[in-house]
Amino acid sequence: MSTPVYGATSAQPQQSHGYPTMKITLSTLHKMKQESRKIAMLTCYDATFATVEAAAGVDILLIGDSLGNVIEGYSSTLPVSMDDMLYHTRCVARGAGSALVLADMPFGSSQVSPEKTFENAARLMAAGAEMVKIEGGEEMAQTVRFLTQRGIPVCAHIGLQPQSVNVYGGYKIQGKTEDSARRLIQEAQTLEQAGASLVLMELVPAAVAKQVTAAIQVPTIGIGAGPDVDGQVLVLHDMLGLVPGKKRFLRNFMEGSPSIQAAIEAYVLAVKSGEFPTMEHAY
Ligand code: KIV
Repeated sequence: MSTPVYGATSAQPQQSHGYPTMKITLSTLHKMKQESRKIAMLTCYDATFATVEAAAGVDILLIGDSLGNVIEGYSSTLPVSMDDMLYHTRCVARGAGSALVLADMPFGSSQVSPEKTFENAARLMAAGAEMVKIEGGEEMAQTVRFLTQRGIPVCAHIGLQPQSVNVYGGYKIQGKTEDSARRLIQEAQTLEQAGASLVLMELVPAAVAKQVTAAIQVPTIGIGAGPDVDGQVLVLHDMLGLVPGKKRFLRNFMEGSPSIQAAIEAYVLAVKSGEFPTMEHAY
């Protein structure tokens, strides 16, 4: 693998693991969906991993509020603050190179008026994000429209929304009944119409994720959503086998890899070739 370059810009196409790495933009992602090329997304929280992930061919670096769990040691994402997200977004943006930088809006920052959500999202964009992720369904459509009309691309996060864990009473699979599956499809369509640029689905049955992916033009990203989506995301610490406990939708990419870099490259290859996930990882 070539030596990672900190802060590389779009003017400097780089070579990484056989993939040409021109700057990834929204247009790249939409073209990838049209051409049935899979999108590899991975969470990232600092500059060193940003550089390693980008060089390995990760298309989207997600500064997930999962940092509350894996960096800060909380049992949920609820305590994560705007300041936490701003700090980690700045760190990741410095190392991201050609990868697209996507930042989560933490709990309480988007469950407010569209105007206030815009202010919070604008701070993340100023810190280096190129898109923000918002948890929520149809109730967020007005906010998604408000942000996208003002220059902030939005990834809508539907299915299991970890910030609502207390409403669900646990981390449970969503969209299992016919009614809730129909609702998920409708939600994805409404959010797309409102301007969402990506739709991320967490813990939904593979068959439902497939229907959502067929029902909308923008790319879908799955985690625990089976193989028939346009791209995948995992939490970095999970795919490196650092978090105890077995989750069906996961694979430990450190197994059989001589280094962390090799494990991340193996993840990218597995996603892009359609070798991960399989129905074995699906619900
Ligand atoms: O915060 C996060 O890491 C996420 C992923 C689980 C999709 O939202």
